Amino acid sequence: MTCLPVKKHDVLVVGAGLAGLRTAIELADKHDVAILTKVHPLRSHSVAAQGGINAAIGEDDSWESHAFDTVKGSDYLADQDAVDLLTQEAPHAVIESEQWGTAFSRTAEGRIAQRPFGGAAFPRTCYAADRTGHNLLHTTFEQALRMGITFYNEWFVTSLVRSKGRVCGLTALDIASGEVHGFVARAVVLATGGFGRVYARSTNALINTGDGCALAMRVGVPLKDMEFIQFHPTTLYGSSILITEGARGEGGYLVNSEGQRFMDKYAPDKMELAPRDIVARAIQTEINEGRGFDGEYVHLDLRHLGKEKILKRLPGIREISMHFANTDPVDEPIPIQPGQHYSMGGIHSNKHGETPLPGLYAVGENSCMSVHGANRLGGNSLLETLVFGQIVGQKVSEYLVDAEAPDTTCVEDEEFSVRERLQKLLLNESGESVARIREDMGRTMDRLVGVYRVQTELEEALRRIRVLRSRFHEVAVGHGQRLFNFALIRALELENMLLLAEVIAMGALMRRESRGAHWRTDYPKRDDSGFLKHSLFTLVDDWIKTEYVEVSLGRFEVKERKY
Ligand code: FUM
Repeated sequence: MTCLPVKKHDVLVVGAGLAGLRTAIELADKHDVAILTKVHPLRSHSVAAQGGINAAIGEDDSWESHAFDTVKGSDYLADQDAVDLLTQEAPHAVIESEQWGTAFSRTAEGRIAQRPFGGAAFPRTCYAADRTGHNLLHTTFEQALRMGITFYNEWFVTSLVRSKGRVCGLTALDIASGEVHGFVARAVVLATGGFGRVYARSTNALINTGDGCALAMRVGVPLKDMEFIQFHPTTLYGSSILITEGARGEGGYLVNSEGQRFMDKYAPDKMELAPRDIVARAIQTEINEGRGFDGEYVHLDLRHLGKEKILKRLPGIREISMHFANTDPVDEPIPIQPGQHYSMGGIHSNKHGETPLPGLYAVGENSCMSVHGANRLGGNSLLETLVFGQIVGQKVSEYLVDAEAPDTTCVEDEEFSVRERLQKLLLNESGESVARIREDMGRTMDRLVGVYRVQTELEEALRRIRVLRSRFHEVAVGHGQRLFNFALIRALELENMLLLAEVIAMGALMRRESRGAHWRTDYPKRDDSGFLKHSLFTLVDDWIKTEYVEVSLGRFEVKERKY
């Protein structure tokens, strides 16, 4: 086998959602930047974000209040210096995007409209009806096109390459041709989004398979706080499609099978607008204690909002409910249940996106900077992509001043071995089914590493995931053709997810306390003396080393969280 000519750029960004695009835009006027993405940029999961983006742009609001809400929402695990940066830069990110053409909803005075969201002291979530991510992604993509950034669309990154103590490039599979190519660059930015598809019931796009986290881990970079998985309170029963928090922000009620609006038992002040971890647990408790419908779901009632408001503010939610649950929220309540939504953990990085490996950066949901701690507030995810996209772009630019271009030969050995590995996978005609392993993994995570967790179930989850990882060694892709072989891509994604599933279960087992979205029924209290710490997971040969590191505390004193 001969190697194809190695491709060369200053910076490679992996992932073309909002975080990747914003980072590339920041770099593009001075450097040769290329984006590799396994789907067309407009198919990135950012497009699915519904309810909005937080920024203290209201006259009576302040970035300090936004920072406090974020830190309290995080159950005090967020790094407060990173939260300061996020909340201080938020107004700039929203206004920049508005100037790029984002069609935010408006107040009667023509200002950007804001709605209340969970855990916030002020209605600070800016929105474009219930299609905020869709709007932001299109305007940001337009800027990337305007700047002439090179796109490798439908390329799947297979490995990162390090040399002389820093990252020097990567290997990637061109899905259309089936060829593996080597790329060299002075810096690589991982922006591949979350890993929600480790769970079967998730709001995440099927593409959210944690590729960036797995790539980083395999090149020796630790993952952080992986046990903190966010379960969105309101996902559509039967399909797990997101029903935005904006529906409760606009005034929607949660009602159980006894007709009770039950949130007064769990969060008497904030009711339906408590943070997500609390609302998800409340719903799950109602279901577990027999006050759900069919033992599976509760109702989200919007009828009292009236048709006009629903059509204006929540048109997407109405369409989704009608198409996927045969329910028109104007006339009937929507059946909902909690489902996996977001990954608070990710690649260990500081507030500038720098990882411990020089030249390697992480941004967006695949990073853990950590601004969300143990529980993210709704509306802070879109914000994170734009604010830190710009900041990471600036940091990479500073790094490039002294970073020499690596020699193209640094990726050749790796390119060779990836080709051999893929060839072997393609030739394996009979063996374990990718779909079956994936289904077993998703069900295991749903049932045993869910909203409520307990030692015996976590141990069982870990055992099962390890069995699935060993079964993966015998996996058969099914056909050996190279062109557009999506069966091969599904297998590579599954391999990534299995690694992350093991880390999530390990982290959940080790953290013997309840904090934010991680709730242990056998350790129902927060334990600041033992666990006010970030967990780190490093791959050493084939075992996972675990350790804890300090949280960066700041202006806000660690307190009990009440709503
Ligand atoms: O509910 C939502 O619209 C989701 C928003 C978010 O995750 O930030």
